Amino acid sequence: MTTTVNSIHNFNAGPSILPKQVFEEASHAILDFNNTGLSILEIGHRTPLFEPVMGEAIDLVKELMQLDTDHEVLFLHGGATTQFMQVPMNLLNENEVAAYTETGTWALKAIKEAKLFGHVEIVGSTKDTNYTTLPKDISVTPTAAYLHITTNETIAGTQWHTLPYKCGVPIVADMSSDILSRTLDFNKFDIIYAGAQKNMGAAGVNLVVVNKNVLGKVKRAIPSILDYRNHIKEHSMMNTPPVFAVYVAMLTLRWLKSKGGIAGIEKVNDAKAKLFYDTLDSLPVFKGPVAKEDRSKMNAVFVMNDPSLEKEFSDLCKREGMIGIKGHRSVGGFRVSMYNALPLQSVQALTDLMKEFANRKG
Ligand SMILES: Cc1ncc(COP(=O)(O)O)c(C=O)c1O
Repeated sequence: MTTTVNSIHNFNAGPSILPKQVFEEASHAILDFNNTGLSILEIGHRTPLFEPVMGEAIDLVKELMQLDTDHEVLFLHGGATTQFMQVPMNLLNENEVAAYTETGTWALKAIKEAKLFGHVEIVGSTKDTNYTTLPKDISVTPTAAYLHITTNETIAGTQWHTLPYKCGVPIVADMSSDILSRTLDFNKFDIIYAGAQKNMGAAGVNLVVVNKNVLGKVKRAIPSILDYRNHIKEHSMMNTPPVFAVYVAMLTLRWLKSKGGIAGIEKVNDAKAKLFYDTLDSLPVFKGPVAKEDRSKMNAVFVMNDPSLEKEFSDLCKREGMIGIKGHRSVGGFRVSMYNALPLQSVQALTDLMKEFANRKG
């Protein structure tokens, strides 16, 4: 039996929903790329067929994020987890301190890797609220090599709405789960990294935006493949890039541009988040643990006031085609991911179901 894609509401946290048009174009390119009779999977990357794909993907990121000429765009292997170590390897000397905010699982992983390369100072931790809040008024030592933040905590469901632009040191941001979802002053960041598999495309490629002025300051020898400067020089073609993942990212970036760019999609994302959280707050059967001012517009987490009802709600969601709303295994409860490609209608369908369930239980 085949299930049509339209009957499913995909709230997966990642890999996650992408525009249907991207799936159609990408599947066509597997069979016949640009009417060449060849699959995109069987062409060389250093060819006039693929080079324009990489070029367009890079240019679209620059255009959509309105990057200045100091900022370079890279498509690299390895997932965001690789950036946890690649950032300190390129930016942090052994005798230096890097400032990290500790806001949940992903920040902790980044901190662990940074400690392999230098000293880490935690400049804001919300461990004592179980990561349901974000640090306010952080103060960073002016000599710190950089400040690292996770702009959106995918598991805890928090998102920085006021960015620490004035912290006085280079800012590094893990934007894996809110990249390209809202307008920010991207030029104020010195490194931005994100795995593609949420808002940007298929798993297998990382977007890294780097201000070239912060490079070249560490004393250690950096393996060639991990040195950002080599990737800048080689236009992300130092070795064979993840060709198909870059192609899917390029299609997703084209789609985003057609939706009015980041500002256009932000309006839809705001509408989805408002609908979801207004509904959540109006139904006493549900509870959102995250402080209202720190709630994520990408990953909304919630629990039920009576945990014994969770299975019944979960089963109902499954029957109604609501996919991926189970909370992360480390925290339980529910998580609704509302990435760029998720239509407002899916949030409407879910909130209708929440209301219906609450009415029955109320
Ligand atoms: C905020 C954040 N950072 C890092 C990662 C790790 O990404 P990857 O699996 O691409 O290494 C994730 C994965 O979900 C994430 O949500």
